[in-house]
Amino acid sequence: MTKEISPCPTLRGDVVPPGDKSISHRAVVLNSIARGTARLSNFSPAVDCGSTVACMQALGVQIRQVSSEPPTIEVEGVGNDGLREADDVLDAGNSATTMRLLSGLLAAQPFFSVVSGDDSLRSRPMDRVIEPLRRMGANIWGRGRDSLAPLAIRGGRLHGTGHALPVASAQVKSAVLIAALFAEGETTVEEPSKSRDHTERMLQAMGASLRVEGCRVSIVPMRAPLNSVGCHIPGDMSSAAYWLVAGAIHPDASIRIKDTGVNPTRAGIVEVLLKMGAKLRIENRYGAGHEPLSDLLIESSQLTGVEIGGELIPRLIDEIPVIAVAACIATGVTVIKDAGELRVKESDRISSLVGELARFGARIEERPDGMIIHGGAKLRGTRCSSHHDHRLAMALAVAALVAEGETQIEGADVVGVSYPSFWADLKAVTAN
Ligand code: S3P
Repeated sequence: MTKEISPCPTLRGDVVPPGDKSISHRAVVLNSIARGTARLSNFSPAVDCGSTVACMQALGVQIRQVSSEPPTIEVEGVGNDGLREADDVLDAGNSATTMRLLSGLLAAQPFFSVVSGDDSLRSRPMDRVIEPLRRMGANIWGRGRDSLAPLAIRGGRLHGTGHALPVASAQVKSAVLIAALFAEGETTVEEPSKSRDHTERMLQAMGASLRVEGCRVSIVPMRAPLNSVGCHIPGDMSSAAYWLVAGAIHPDASIRIKDTGVNPTRAGIVEVLLKMGAKLRIENRYGAGHEPLSDLLIESSQLTGVEIGGELIPRLIDEIPVIAVAACIATGVTVIKDAGELRVKESDRISSLVGELARFGARIEERPDGMIIHGGAKLRGTRCSSHHDHRLAMALAVAALVAEGETQIEGADVVGVSYPSFWADLKAVTAN
């Protein structure tokens, strides 16, 4: 599908972002191996989370939708020894989180599994989970000298060990922590900087013995099944990000983004926008279970370029495409560095972003680990492509809102991977 977007005179209204994708994946996987039934309300409608649900169902877990507004599912935990061998390849679709979390889980089950995915997922690095899991005794193989999916996993007994991850990655950390629940002895994982900590929070809420000291997490195997935890899943900061930037860069905007998860390991974009001078207010802080939530209010702002790198990167990695759009409009230079991980996301987000924003007339230079953006450009509407990457499609839509003339985004239906109602929400915000 090609989406046509014209600039609009005002952006107004309330947006409720969909339930957090990262938390939804974890809530399904961990409650599947818990004791009891968990009700998960505001469960993410993302196609990616549907992949996780389908995989867990194929492994013998009963999961049913009990309401559609807000999307609510119930997961009937099978305990720590109740999963059964799937009778076909497990399909993770476009979702690396599904594939990596399941790798850790399946490495410890007494049966054989194969996990695959779409063209994009089959080109993404899986050695980063294969290597640490093998150090725990896992039998796991992949194409490309054990670096690419499909992955074949002969589950078995694992032993705890220490891991020092070369790059901060919540998916790898979570795969190791899930495997460690079933391993013999203690496992520790240390990251160079802190990635999202939803797995740690959820495991603690479920009764796992887990210790967090800065960037180091230690866990001992479960002696009894985890306790299921039902929860209301916070709105996804990564989806809220499009409205935060749209509101900040549009000349006549005022948007309230409701019930958004503001876990500090996900809120790097809030810090960056405040540093850039955004008129952004955080209101109604409250907690839903083990995660903090807030409403975010954003108004038209005069932004200034900033430098973004180091420990901030894992806390805003998925928001960099839309932050780059903000940087195009800001005055001054924005430097994004230490973000080489962007090259192994759903697309090579450094080259795809630089190429597509250049079509709008942005002054943007590619660097091996990021980009340099010379702000203050007047963007012009253009024909551009999502590169089959949901976050690129939505970032380009935000650029189109402030560009002169019409924009056509090819491959726009890909937004369903994380935010199926994105185009409807865009229509509502531009129609008010
Ligand atoms: C995710 C972790 C991040 C992020 C991805 C979701 C997660 O990836 O980019 O969209 O849910 O754990 P890495 O673990 O590869 O950094």
